[in-house]
Amino acid sequence: MLAPHPTIRVRVTSVKQEARDIKLVELGPLDGDSLPPFSAGSHIDLHLANGMIRSYSLSNGPDQANRYLVGVKNEEAGRGGSRFIHERLEVGDEIEISAPRGHFKLEEDAEHSVLIAGGIGITPLMSMSRRLESLGKSWEMHYAARDVENAGFVAELRGFGRKVQFYFRKGSRDISARDRVDLAALIKRAPGNTHFYCCGPSEMIMAFQAATESLPTTRVHLERFSNEQQVEKEGTFTVVLQRSGETLEVCSGQTILEALLDRGFDVPYSCTEGICSTCQTTVVSGIPDHRDMILSKEQKESNKLIMICCSRSKTDTLVLDI
Ligand code: FES
Repeated sequence: MLAPHPTIRVRVTSVKQEARDIKLVELGPLDGDSLPPFSAGSHIDLHLANGMIRSYSLSNGPDQANRYLVGVKNEEAGRGGSRFIHERLEVGDEIEISAPRGHFKLEEDAEHSVLIAGGIGITPLMSMSRRLESLGKSWEMHYAARDVENAGFVAELRGFGRKVQFYFRKGSRDISARDRVDLAALIKRAPGNTHFYCCGPSEMIMAFQAATESLPTTRVHLERFSNEQQVEKEGTFTVVLQRSGETLEVCSGQTILEALLDRGFDVPYSCTEGICSTCQTTVVSGIPDHRDMILSKEQKESNKLIMICCSRSKTDTLVLDI
């Protein structure tokens, strides 16, 4: 059987109300332990006592060793993970987490970085801004939120002066805020080798993708909260598990992940919708039908990786490194 990603036991060292619907949870090592280092933009999975596994981006800078800070928005209409954290998680609780990982990586050597955040999408970009600031790099942030009460890290961001521009909806009492991010203008005036980062709601991500369409993909980085693609589960195909030689049929209405779990395999997963990369698996042969929001166009075309929680197969058989 495949071993799941190892987890780390940590202690909740602080829970703070950061904005109206956002709690900031600080996690620290158990006595004598240390936490693995991380890079700006990484996320961790929290294994909650209610059995849920939820991914959250780290918001502290990677220079702050031995401490993970996650911002959690209470999603009333969500599946219950954020509600559990807001209502039940307390200082002193011990929980399991994954090691930090992620595909939303900061290009630290860029001439200039433009960070575009919407709502709770501020969390990974907060980590990036702290990192860029500590490196003495050139950067700017554009942060849109409903209003100042719903925005996190406001005091610290104001301390960065003109590097940070807030955007609150019309009617905000904050007169320094604008009401919309002009992506085309930002891109036009940025120096030649600028890298652009965006994390926010789907409308913002779509506008960002449209605005950056003509830029090299290596300079465009984004992270989503959810997979808006219709993830159909039609069609039957065979998956061969190369390490054991076992074969399993993935039926209509079922994902590869579900077929593996049904068979008793202990495979790692978290979001189950193709946005966290926890279930990323190497493809030995066959052509995946990619449905995830993580892999780049080039990675998808190379047919070397698959997110087994949502992607399917274009070929009758898919051989996976499991
Ligand atoms: S479990 Fe998150 S991408 Fe598959």
